[in-house]
Amino acid sequence: MSHKRAQFGTKLGVIAATVGSAVGLGNIWRFPYECGTNGGGAFLLVYIAFVFLLGIPTICAEFALGRHSRKGMPGSFRIASCNKRWDFLGYGAILAAFMILSFYSVVGGWTLDYIFDSCTGLFKQIPNSDRHQQFMNFVSGWRAVAWAIVFLIINFVVMVRGVQKGIEKVSNVMTPLLFVILIVFCVNSLFMPGAAKGLTFLFKPDFSKVTTDVVLRALGQAFFSLSLGMGCLVTYSSYFSDNTPLIKTAFQIGILDTLVAILAGVVIFPAVFTYGMQPAEGPTLVFEVLPNIFHDMPGGNIWSFLFFLLLALASLTSIISVSEVVVAFLCDEFKITRKRAAIIVTAVTCVTATLCSLSFGPLKSLNLFNLFDYISANILMTLGGLGICVFVGWRMKSEHFEQQMRLNSHVPGWLFSYIAGCIRYVCPVGIFIVFIAGLL
Ligand code: TRP
Repeated sequence: MSHKRAQFGTKLGVIAATVGSAVGLGNIWRFPYECGTNGGGAFLLVYIAFVFLLGIPTICAEFALGRHSRKGMPGSFRIASCNKRWDFLGYGAILAAFMILSFYSVVGGWTLDYIFDSCTGLFKQIPNSDRHQQFMNFVSGWRAVAWAIVFLIINFVVMVRGVQKGIEKVSNVMTPLLFVILIVFCVNSLFMPGAAKGLTFLFKPDFSKVTTDVVLRALGQAFFSLSLGMGCLVTYSSYFSDNTPLIKTAFQIGILDTLVAILAGVVIFPAVFTYGMQPAEGPTLVFEVLPNIFHDMPGGNIWSFLFFLLLALASLTSIISVSEVVVAFLCDEFKITRKRAAIIVTAVTCVTATLCSLSFGPLKSLNLFNLFDYISANILMTLGGLGICVFVGWRMKSEHFEQQMRLNSHVPGWLFSYIAGCIRYVCPVGIFIVFIAGLL
């Protein structure tokens, strides 16, 4: 079966889909909780440094590989190097994709439940002091499992509709709207009594808190948030037209994504201190803090409905991009239809997501949720990013790389040297050191 490979329809569509992939629960749920457990300001500083030094160059590397080969994982390595020796990187990516799909859909399910609760007015009824217990009861039960499965089914529907009709349409509208509503919430948080404390926590670095583990987690968070290290952007860029300027797009993604994460921090931390909560609460942090805000806000139910709707949609555009890695892999390698590939992905993840969700209740001792979260972001993705940079920097023909970087865009010499230098030297060495130090 040979058919023309799908492509994104418009320039806006490319930005919306890639930024839509990057912006998601990673920014609004994962960033505040990682920042909170790893010391605040210092974490943010290391995080930003990693975005520019390692993140944006790795985005460029993924783009060059994807658009040059016009294949996803692991086919792109095979085409660019003419042999199968690099396939293992692709299989690592597929494994990471399944782990991410599993815990991501659980959190996606939480957002769906919160949309529902906003409609019934639950946040207004329950006093803030009962919030923690209420949330723990919810996440440990079957209701959370059911929502995770609903989330996966919605993902399935978009997956089947394909690149232009599915991914692009949803992303175009949602990503800009989320941005606007986040700014409204930031302003609201800035007027809270705990604003000063919250902002100090987020922006004032305390370097005594920086351990090698914190540095590894900042790198993992940067890669997770930018959708890096598992071929997601390789797969998306295989659908780019030749008109897309790759370096410019990479900077747009990096900057917008970081901005959203910082905005989320500005919303959350003032509220954490206002309501006397702990920033180091962990994965449930955001879901316990936000309802307090809505409880005390005029028109809280409407705001919370809007917020969680947009968050759910932002997570949908992200989880679609993770699924797309596996779907493209199954379609390219086994020549099956999109629909069949989507069924396989959904069936497997329904099972693994159930196990992750029950990690908050009956399967606490196994704690697959935290395990998948940690292994995928901090191990598989950082190693995947390392592999991709080494491959693009040293194995892919440098004319091919340069051609992709400069195609239809004016790139000044210094900028090209910066990106190429980072991919060849800074990323491989930097990621390797952070990884080893963090593990020890
Ligand atoms: N970046 C997304 C977020 O911040 C999550 C995501 C989408 C992702 N695609 C990915 C993470 C690929 C790792 C790899 O929510």
